[in-house]
Amino acid sequence: MTRIDQIMQQDHVRLDALLDISARAVREGRWQDAARHLEQFRHGIADGHMVVEETTLFPAFEAREGGTEHPLTALLRKGHQDLRVFFQEMAEAISAEDAEEFADLLSTVQTILKQHDAKEETELYPYLAEALPDHGQAVGQEILTFAAGERA
Ligand SMILES: [Fe+2]
Ligand SMILES: [Fe+2]
Repeated sequence: MTRIDQIMQQDHVRLDALLDISARAVREGRWQDAARHLEQFRHGIADGHMVVEETTLFPAFEAREGGTEHPLTALLRKGHQDLRVFFQEMAEAISAEDAEEFADLLSTVQTILKQHDAKEETELYPYLAEALPDHGQAVGQEILTFAAGERA
């Protein structure tokens, strides 16, 4: 039995690694690889991880903790919006083969992600692992299935 907090934390690690692979390709001037790996990262985080959070995890927390105006999920949702914009800008920097611009954006994104993920890992996931009936295993399965599709 794998709890939701463990599943989501592992997904953060998996996604960080994908971003690192893209960043390495940029540093080595392999622009096509960089674009492909960045898109893998973007798809995994923005179409998978964040969607599960926004459609399932945040609502599950809000349903128990005072509705959609809760400051924790409001902050996390805003973080996702900001990150989506930065992912787009990183893709543009790669298209323009602008390593300097990419490096600036990367450092901003990594800073935001580090704080965002830490907040989720300390304040959101452990709470849900206790609050959800099966420790969130069923919800976590969505993430695992999505991640498995990535590797297929
Ligand atoms: Fe998130
Ligand atoms: Fe997350």
